[in-house]
Amino acid sequence: MNKIFNFFRNMRWKLFLSYFILVLFNISLLGFLFYLFTMGHFMSTRESYLETASDYFVKFVTANMENDGQLIGTSKFFLRQNWEKMDYELIVYDRSNLIIADSRSLDEQMGIFSMNSKGDEKILSVLKTGRPLCWKIKKDSSNFIYYACPIFFETKIIGAVKIGMTTDDFNALFDIFKDYFLITFILSLIAALGLAFIFVRNIMKPVMKIRDIASEISQGKFESRVNYDAMDELGDLSRTINKMAEDLNKLEETRNLFLANISHELKTPLTIIKGFALTMEGDPEIREDQKHFLETINKEADRLTRLVNELLELSRLKTKKTVMKIAPFDVKEIIEDVVFNMQTKADKFNCTISCSCPDKLPLVPIDPDKIHEVFINLIDNAIKYSQGHKEKPEVKVFVETTEKELVVKVSDNGPGIPQADLDLIFEKFFRSGSRSQKIEGVGLGLSIVKEIVNAHNGKIYAESTEGQGCTFVVKLPLQQPKK
Ligand SMILES: Nc1ncnc2c1ncn2[C@@H]1O[C@H](COP(=O)(O)OP(=O)(O)OP(=O)(O)O)[C@@H](O)[C@H]1O
Ligand SMILES: [Mg+2]
Repeated sequence: MNKIFNFFRNMRWKLFLSYFILVLFNISLLGFLFYLFTMGHFMSTRESYLETASDYFVKFVTANMENDGQLIGTSKFFLRQNWEKMDYELIVYDRSNLIIADSRSLDEQMGIFSMNSKGDEKILSVLKTGRPLCWKIKKDSSNFIYYACPIFFETKIIGAVKIGMTTDDFNALFDIFKDYFLITFILSLIAALGLAFIFVRNIMKPVMKIRDIASEISQGKFESRVNYDAMDELGDLSRTINKMAEDLNKLEETRNLFLANISHELKTPLTIIKGFALTMEGDPEIREDQKHFLETINKEADRLTRLVNELLELSRLKTKKTVMKIAPFDVKEIIEDVVFNMQTKADKFNCTISCSCPDKLPLVPIDPDKIHEVFINLIDNAIKYSQGHKEKPEVKVFVETTEKELVVKVSDNGPGIPQADLDLIFEKFFRSGSRSQKIEGVGLGLSIVKEIVNAHNGKIYAESTEGQGCTFVVKLPLQQPKK
């Protein structure tokens, strides 16, 4: 369900949909306007035809009348003369809205009209106002257009004439047009959709490339670059991102160089301090309190040495100065070795370590010493940060393989890590929560682990439910990409 929602939220779909709606709207509007204009044009042509016909009739009858009582006679005469060439119906009304001549009821003798039939409302209005009217109606599933105008004799309205014609010929034409329109509509929609698909794909391709590279940069891969150099806005964005990555890379290099130099410079004085402290400790004449001071100096010197070594290792990994000795290796062997090595520390904290691993694992291309260091760090963290949280601290190592990866999970039942810190713990010197500060450590272990896993083209991340413990997931590719 979530996947479906995400699909509809993605830019490609939104662009495609808006393009689709635009095309649909445009074609429909075009069809509708075309229908409206042509229908309007047809109707007004027909209306002026009827108007001309009624004009002709009115002129004929008024020219052949000597007084207003002759309207019936002249109308009949007109119909007799013209009915064969008339393609319209013509009805004549007298002043009181009664039909006095009707082209539809002409019999063979052409003389008998349905006299005294009632007129209609429209004619009443024409007779009253003296203004012509035009209207359309539907009769027995046929469409008609009518035009009615008054008949004046001198200045007096003596009746009205109504001329009507079917518009079914237009409708038949429009039915054909509708079919053509539908076919054109579907074809242009398909063509527009195809074009929209190509257009959206071409636009979104560089956008997605930029997104992926930006995400890589945000994960610390500052050497990633967007390979899109067009002279458009996306090209500008790519160049800006590349420039930003370059600056970040330079900054990171300077930082690493600084750390490496400092660490290196600290190494010699530390060795000297430690050497002198050890020599003094061996002096038999030394007082008890002085011995204690020297022990502290020794311990702190050890701690500093460890920090300096970790910093040096990290900067070497970051600047890719560490050469990975990658060869196919059985990770199970490494894990069993690490579990064995960590047993003494686990016993000290009353912690049990268990390992669930398939009997046979595929050989994975790794640097065994570095991967050994990864699991030492993870299991060391799991033991030391779980201490005192539950009565029975447990560390579980779970190994499985998927189609492309070897997955190792190291989980504990300690206090866990707050959700907001799950990404930050891989940053150097970051230590999560006040509880960690009381536990020995400098905050470099996971940064080194991440660099090692990255150097194997693998992935590492942490999952945790606070108060319940946490799980570190390491994924190593079964095959290294070919260079
Ligand atoms: N299993 C764990 N349970 C709870 N918190 C953890 C766990 N593993 C790591 N953390 C948190 O992540 C922080 C970073 O761990 P990291 O291993 O990088 O440093 P560290 O253990 O403090 O020092 P060191 O450099 O000696 O390893 C720790 O300080 C701790 O707050
Ligand atoms: Mg650690």
